[in-house]
Amino acid sequence: MLISPYFCSKESKEMVKEGKVPVSFPKDVDTGTDLEKVEQTFYIESYGCQMNFSDSEIVASILAETGFKAVNSADEADFIFLNTCSIREKAEDSVRKRLSELQILKKRKPERIIGVLGCMAERLKTKFLEEEKIVDIVAGPDAYRDLPLLIAGAGMGEKGVNVFLSREETYGDVSPLRLGSNGITAFLSIMRGCDNMCSFCVVPFTRGRERSRDLFSILAEVSDLAGKGYREVTLLGQNVDSYRWVNPDSFDTVSFADLLRRVAKEAPGMRIRFSTSHPKDITDEVLETIASYPNICRYIHLPVQSGNSRILELMNRTYDRQWYRERVNAIRRILPDCAISSDIIVGFCSETEDEFEETLEMMTFADYTLCYMFQYSERPGTPAAKRLTDDIPPEVKQTRLEKTIQLQRNLSLKSNLKDIGKTFEVLIEGNSRKSASHFSGRNSQNKVVVFPKFGQAKPGDFVQVLVTDATSGTLLGKPLS
Ligand code: 5AD
Ligand code: SF4
Repeated sequence: MLISPYFCSKESKEMVKEGKVPVSFPKDVDTGTDLEKVEQTFYIESYGCQMNFSDSEIVASILAETGFKAVNSADEADFIFLNTCSIREKAEDSVRKRLSELQILKKRKPERIIGVLGCMAERLKTKFLEEEKIVDIVAGPDAYRDLPLLIAGAGMGEKGVNVFLSREETYGDVSPLRLGSNGITAFLSIMRGCDNMCSFCVVPFTRGRERSRDLFSILAEVSDLAGKGYREVTLLGQNVDSYRWVNPDSFDTVSFADLLRRVAKEAPGMRIRFSTSHPKDITDEVLETIASYPNICRYIHLPVQSGNSRILELMNRTYDRQWYRERVNAIRRILPDCAISSDIIVGFCSETEDEFEETLEMMTFADYTLCYMFQYSERPGTPAAKRLTDDIPPEVKQTRLEKTIQLQRNLSLKSNLKDIGKTFEVLIEGNSRKSASHFSGRNSQNKVVVFPKFGQAKPGDFVQVLVTDATSGTLLGKPLS
């Protein structure tokens, strides 16, 4: 059967209109008659970036609105969704492995529906449905509003696909259902897509064009979170510094700096974080805005990818080594207590040993407190896959990766040791992983701080903690209040 990018029968559309979705649809069901309403359950598993986790909360909200109930395990669920990531081959491999495990659950209960959402759905389109026949639903990142329709179709034995990318969809009016939340920290998407076209990256193809969400829907969500007792919100986008929203009434343009100001004022009792910043777009105005509001965290994730200008050009990052160093200097000047973290790719096409050394130098120069390090993984269809050769042998990539990991461990340790004797405000997030008699939280710089429980202190409280010891991953301290 040929499946169009948007496939759903007329009958299933009618059923959704009539509010008959929350039922199971055996193939031979008579769609003209009333169906017994039984509460059906869904389970979403998220892979990849924070944006995917945030999207899963949008999906959960759409499904809950339709009448489905969220459950905590795949085994209990009538519909299982994997919200997938395509960024590296390994990310796709783990989703494939999970899909084959899910086939066992499907065999046990054949009417169970399995759906693939997110970047892999977008990249592979009908492949899972038509060639591999291992899923029932495929929905790309801009198609989540259609899930009730696709589920209705799948219940009738149809295979449903919607992988249309939109230029407008921001889900601004969908209030996320905070799945598995600690009730303290939340993610909030402020924009979708990416227009940057870094040559190694699949995101512009899987998430489409950049679009910014309505300022007022963002402020409403922040204020709702504050009202519910959340103490920290992370504003998410592939490239938050290019947030740009034009008010349709006043025609005023709202920039990322404007947005930060408005959010910081809307929720003065909440911490504000944001991710990810692009070195070409982060302006002094943004840095000065952070400096003006104590509730905007002193932490910037500023992925450099490579420390060498030739490689940066091949990557189409549109800045060079000098530009990046200047941005780091600007952060140091305007926000002296700000921590900087980064993403690094080693072994990009044609990278020489000397060029790689410049990445190590940049790591030391920027003095990252945290770094996510990856071996280059060629992604089909990207400009790098089309125009460059993935010519660095795997063992060289591995050695370079190990060198960056070792260096970062030293930089993190050095930075943490410097914090001994300092006092930080820490937001308690919960118990420490290692000891139930200790709390774990983070300071403004996004460092994990562990300290003994005391008095009435509880998760969600801000406490002053004096740092007394440190490892490369954690600050250890004692509470002062
Ligand atoms: N190979 C390796 N790492 C990649 N990233 C993005 N695409 C690739 C790729 N093809 C990394 C970048 C990016 C982070 C989210 O993932 O460092 O910043
Ligand atoms: Fe990918 Fe570059 Fe966009 Fe980040 S900025 S999502 S690396 S294209």
